Amino acid sequence: MDPLRRPLIAGNWKMNAGGSDGCDLALAVARAAAELDEVDVVVAPPFTALAAVSNELYNKKSEVGVAAQNLHWEESGAFTGEVSAPMLRVAGATWVIIGHSERRQLFGETDEMVAKKIAAANAGGLKPIVCVGETLAEREAGETLAVVARQVKAAVIELGRAGGEGVVAYEPVWAIGTGKVASPEDAQEIHAAIRKLLAEADAELAVTTRLLYGGSVKANNAEGLLAQLDIDGALVGGAALDADGFGKIAEIAAKLARQGKTE
Ligand code: 13P
Repeated sequence: MDPLRRPLIAGNWKMNAGGSDGCDLALAVARAAAELDEVDVVVAPPFTALAAVSNELYNKKSEVGVAAQNLHWEESGAFTGEVSAPMLRVAGATWVIIGHSERRQLFGETDEMVAKKIAAANAGGLKPIVCVGETLAEREAGETLAVVARQVKAAVIELGRAGGEGVVAYEPVWAIGTGKVASPEDAQEIHAAIRKLLAEADAELAVTTRLLYGGSVKANNAEGLLAQLDIDGALVGGAALDADGFGKIAEIAAKLARQGKTE
């Protein structure tokens, strides 16, 4: 974790905690994160809980940010079942996850759609968290870097338009929800490669963009990952549904940030 970039710990709740249970979870996260001044903490509830969670956090004067898990690139119109950036803003979101591997794999999202969604987020005042990562088959075929490079290159122009506010999350698909976590060294290697790709587009962008690791991050494996120079935080799935465990990951990030600052 480089002291230049503030750590970011984001919890992707996926299709869970979409009602009053989402408010309870968000409030518990707010309590766990209340003293952690060194780290940005974000929760990403399902659409149905976005407004209620945002209101609860606002009422408690919490610094915890709210992300949507997806958006459509148009602002409004005949797109049944879709939700636009302006709607997400009204619901209180200030972040949006884009191109998660579950969206790419299960819902046919392409690199082109991801780029359009980042553009919509930029236009709508939402900070994009753009997910990239290879499948197990791609990894076994030795294509990890090529796949990640293709995904990053497709996003880099719009990430540039987001300035330092954009985030890239490297989530190897084989590590998501499997308990198989990338080794800190392997993850660092890919994060360094992503930062190099950003630098080729824009040196400043590479310095300011936070890169998150995602895939089976838990309180007991977070430290080794977050200690890596190019890993600026984590995108947490399953472990984000438990406020204590999620809070511990944020605590580890805060501790490492404090250590970094005193070096
Ligand atoms: P898990 O932490 O459950 O592996 O999920 C990671 C993820 O997909 C976050 O977006």
